[in-house]
Amino acid sequence: MTTNNEEMVVTPWEVRGKIDYDKLTKEFGTQPITPELLEQIRKHTGQLHPQLERRIFFSHRDLDWILQRYEMGEKFVLYTGRGPSGPVTLGHIVPWIFTKYLQDKFGAKLYFQLTDDEKFLYHDEFSISEPQRWAYENSLDLIALGFDHRLTKIILDTKSIGVLYNLAIQIAKRMTYSTVRAVFGFQDSTNIGMLFYPAIQAVPAFLESYLTGKNVPCLIPAAIDQDPYWRVTRDVAPKLGYYKPAQIHCRFVPGLGRGGKMSASMPETAIFTVDSPQVAQKKILSAFTGGRATVEEQRRLGANPDICSVFAYDYFLFMDEKEIGNLRYNCLGGNIMCGECKLDLAERVMKFLAKHQEKREKAKDRFEEFLFNPKDI
Ligand code: TRP
Repeated sequence: MTTNNEEMVVTPWEVRGKIDYDKLTKEFGTQPITPELLEQIRKHTGQLHPQLERRIFFSHRDLDWILQRYEMGEKFVLYTGRGPSGPVTLGHIVPWIFTKYLQDKFGAKLYFQLTDDEKFLYHDEFSISEPQRWAYENSLDLIALGFDHRLTKIILDTKSIGVLYNLAIQIAKRMTYSTVRAVFGFQDSTNIGMLFYPAIQAVPAFLESYLTGKNVPCLIPAAIDQDPYWRVTRDVAPKLGYYKPAQIHCRFVPGLGRGGKMSASMPETAIFTVDSPQVAQKKILSAFTGGRATVEEQRRLGANPDICSVFAYDYFLFMDEKEIGNLRYNCLGGNIMCGECKLDLAERVMKFLAKHQEKREKAKDRFEEFLFNPKDI
């Protein structure tokens, strides 16, 4: 269980404590998303996605540069991914929804990497078939979100390695042990698969350039915990004659407990896309809120939406500007009680899940259609 006073830890394998996003931006050396940059995006997208407006995507590297190139007629590719170690949660799909918006607005191709190798190497208890099975399961969630199959290529590492390997060894040759040890905190006891793996995660950032023989800019939308990978990837880019990949970073979606991000390893506080609507409802009804001890007190003093996990779900996924503004007002003013708010969210989540699960069923025979095939280039 995480508490709000716990020290902040953000690595590709662990996120805990109270997250201070300003501090992360400084520590990682990334740029905040400014109003000017939002205007530059709006020029191309018409409207801004709520995730931008609300700064759920809050920091970047070279996004202004990507837009400049785009304005000069140079298209970029998108790259994101997932480590398939379990079922997909509503938290995971937040950046995927945003990635689809970028694909739609910019007509951009997407490489989506499923890192079954990474999860096999990291989890002692995994046999290789486990992450492979999750990779297939997780890809159904991606496909269900409506990505365009002509523009979306799923890379499944163990299956696509024949195409990745040439580029992976070129990258690996230019990444030193001392760099990856320092960046990722590897120890003497770390298995050597993990030491090589950062080269594999770097590959999709250069894949389009490598396969087409001309430099293509790449933009990576992802939660900020993946940033160490992009730092080492950006380091080797000029050594290989490629553009450095740009990034746009999002916040972590909190779990239904007190503090901490939604995590598949705490199933009672995570909503899975495959949860039955009844199970999801039950989890939401026992969620942590920012409410007061008694109804009387809450009517008098109001509640606190900023620490409330129910409010967070509406904020990250379900409400538009007007609705969220109203909810905030009513929550602070003590006009709405937590039970009511939970029931409302549960209804929205159950509706979403029913639709999503229908689309997910239909995705089952479309996996091959999305799987990366170098002949498509
Ligand atoms: N390492 C990521 C994870 O464990 C998976 C991943 C691979 C990824 N490539 C990516 C995530 C690109 C975001 C963007 O989840």
